[in-house]
Amino acid sequence: METVLKIQSIKKAYRIGKILVPALRDITFEVSEGEFLTIFGPSGSGKSTLLHLIGCLDRPDAGEILIEGVNVLRLSDDRLAELRLNKIGFVFQFFNLLPKISALRNVELPLAITGMPEKESIERAKEMLALMGLETRMHHRPSEISGGEQQRVAMARALINNPKIVLADEPTGNLDTKTGWEIVQLMKKLNREKKQTFIVVTHDPHIAETADRIVYLKDGLIETIKEATRSN
Ligand SMILES: Nc1ncnc2c1ncn2[C@@H]1O[C@H](COP(=O)(O)OP(=O)(O)OP(=O)(O)O)[C@@H](O)[C@H]1O
Ligand SMILES: [Mg+2]
Repeated sequence: METVLKIQSIKKAYRIGKILVPALRDITFEVSEGEFLTIFGPSGSGKSTLLHLIGCLDRPDAGEILIEGVNVLRLSDDRLAELRLNKIGFVFQFFNLLPKISALRNVELPLAITGMPEKESIERAKEMLALMGLETRMHHRPSEISGGEQQRVAMARALINNPKIVLADEPTGNLDTKTGWEIVQLMKKLNREKKQTFIVVTHDPHIAETADRIVYLKDGLIETIKEATRSN
């Protein structure tokens, strides 16, 4: 299996006034293409910080991040934005959908940004929403659909550019257990069928265990990396 992501000795601290709060102290690991990885750890252990760095939403203080062999920290802001748009899909805990536009327009937006003709982008967005089981909800605004449906819209948006790597930060954190589980099963299915690499942050041990491997974070360090005991 090819390595799609390489994280090498990354460090990150946040500055609050004169105080430096260490969030990640020295993180090194690799992820193979098509892998389903979960990042598990207590609150404050650095999970979101790590995911934001992988998603190029922020930069580490030290270390290297390679996506398909490209050192992303050496890219200009423009090239980085391009890489983020084409290679990475991000699913947030609070969905982060634009409230004033329909589900369809939310999903179509990343394609519109690439300059795709509207007829084609709308068609593709419709297909993606259908894949998520949202045919009858595409003209609704986010406030007019349920939390689980909003998260599926967010997934459709994250996946519309067919990214190599899909990152999800507590994607089930604001959903009830059953709906959360459905979202996880949907991610597993996409991972199997489209061979996309998934990196999912969770503090739910049952969800962590659905992965191929689990990265345990504690106090900004990797405590251990475990092969999951069962795969479903
Ligand atoms: N913007 C920020 N400014 C200052 N400190 C921050 C900031 N974001 C995170 N931190 C600190 O960095 C550490 C890691 O935070 P992070 O959000 O990555 O943890 P987490 O594992 O995602 O926690 P949770 O499970 O609660 O979401 C914590 O000590 C946190 O207080
Ligand atoms: Mg977090």
